[in-house]
Amino acid sequence: MSKTAIFFGPLKGSVNRVADKLKNLIGDDKVVMVPVNSASVADIEKYDKIIFGISTVGKDTWKSTYSNVDWAEFLPEISKTNYEGKTIAIFGLGDHITYAATFVDHIALLANELIKNGAVLSGLVDAGEYEYHESEAVVDGKFLGLPVDEDFEPELTDERLEKWVKQISADFGW
Ligand SMILES: Cc1cc2nc3c(=O)[nH]c(=O)nc-3n(C[C@H](O)[C@H](O)[C@H](O)COP(=O)(O)O)c2cc1C
Repeated sequence: MSKTAIFFGPLKGSVNRVADKLKNLIGDDKVVMVPVNSASVADIEKYDKIIFGISTVGKDTWKSTYSNVDWAEFLPEISKTNYEGKTIAIFGLGDHITYAATFVDHIALLANELIKNGAVLSGLVDAGEYEYHESEAVVDGKFLGLPVDEDFEPELTDERLEKWVKQISADFGW
């Protein structure tokens, strides 16, 4: 069985922690971890099954000191290949209290690049399960990936991940 790659960034923060939890839930032997800070399109092309992990760090601040620089640099690699026939899903870290009006917006940024390049996304999540004001990541009542809020709802993370892994397991063939 081909492995699922988890492309994630940045290192050492909440995305990293949640990516590790996902790997443990799916099964160590079925997953390859790929930090986006050392990856390029050639790495994407090695895998037919990919989960992307991203955080939203302020829509206009990717270049400032506290920002998801790893993803800012990796994002252009996303559009250099085609995703038709691949199995793709996204999880995104955010904060639904402080950033209620831009909740997990970077899920949308990434999803749109993937969709433009032929991806059909697995693992959409009912927006009714979250409290927020606005999110670019919601289309037709569904988030384009799994939102996770480690800042204000860390107690829900394990349950959210378990449910999501069950939801996408048939698509990923686990
Ligand atoms: C400067 C800054 C801007 C942020 N902007 C947003 C935002 O627009 N939307 C959102 O949902 N979360 C936002 N967050 C919350 C982060 O996405 C959240 O803390 C996340 O867990 C960070 O994960 P990381 O440490 O792995 O990057 C922001 C956090 C910071 C520090």
